[in-house]
Amino acid sequence: MNEGFEDFDLTGRSVVVSGAASDMGAAIARSLVAAGAKVLLGDVDEARLAQALEGAGGAAGQVFAMRTDVTRRAEVEALVDRSVSEFGGIDVMANIAGVIHDSLVVETDEADLDRVLAVNLKGVYLGCQAAARRMSEQGRGSIINMASLAAFAALPELSCYSVSKAGVVALTRVLAAEVGPSGVRVNAIAPGFVEGGMTARRVRRTDGSVDEEKLEAVRAGVRQRNPLRTTGEPRDIANAVLFLASDASRYLTGQVLHANGGSYMPS
Ligand SMILES: NC(=O)c1ccc[n+]([C@@H]2O[C@H](COP(=O)([O-])OP(=O)(O)OC[C@H]3O[C@@H](n4cnc5c(N)ncnc54)[C@H](O)[C@@H]3O)[C@@H](O)[C@H]2O)c1
Repeated sequence: MNEGFEDFDLTGRSVVVSGAASDMGAAIARSLVAAGAKVLLGDVDEARLAQALEGAGGAAGQVFAMRTDVTRRAEVEALVDRSVSEFGGIDVMANIAGVIHDSLVVETDEADLDRVLAVNLKGVYLGCQAAARRMSEQGRGSIINMASLAAFAALPELSCYSVSKAGVVALTRVLAAEVGPSGVRVNAIAPGFVEGGMTARRVRRTDGSVDEEKLEAVRAGVRQRNPLRTTGEPRDIANAVLFLASDASRYLTGQVLHANGGSYMPS
């Protein structure tokens, strides 16, 4: 590797990705494998998890998948334990699993609020807890949490999602302060609109297919609101994960990377 680029090298690093069956999670897993990491994929959706495993590539013994519900502590701990038994440790934990729900605050069902908080906030909390314990013993590690632009912008009908992601940002900062002295870094990524995944939910027809015309109108709105005049792709988020996973980000902790085309610029 060229001098100056060795800090980006992930060869042999052990990485756990939760929510790895999503478009974004699968892209993250693929990029990590291509960068030489050993990757363990977790998700509750077994069929899509198998596809993500297949698509991740890699050599024998480099990539594994395990059904994991991030709302269950025992399953999250088992995922981290599997990384330790399979790879000898855990260098990186990427907490990507998430769900979204659209409703006005005054119309939100308690069950929907509970579900979103359970996956997006408690799930990330449990992932952080299990990984941070192991990483603190090792004296090194990088935890990457998936937040969202919704944690920073006031988006009507996204209250459950927004408060869960704001909680992820707060957790990221507090944990970064707690485990930094043990050599563990904790950062978050807050994407704006990213193609695929949950973005198509508002433009689905009753048969589940996507109304491309409506989706294009949503994209046009997003492009108009950001200086780069573009929408994000899963690989944009995967690239941010590669950076935060590697030693190239060794001086960063407690930070949020705003991958949003410039639509929100924190002061
Ligand atoms: N797509 C976007 O524009 C966007 C923007 C900002 C943030 N995000 C965040 O990125 C992440 C991935 O989103 P996506 O758009 O690819 O959505 P997605 O719906 O395709 O992916 C979410 C994944 O989480 C998994 N999951 C749900 N509940 C789970 C549970 N209890 N245990 C384990 N896995 C569970 C799902 O099976 C799915 O694979 C989410 O955290 C989302 O909030 C997405």
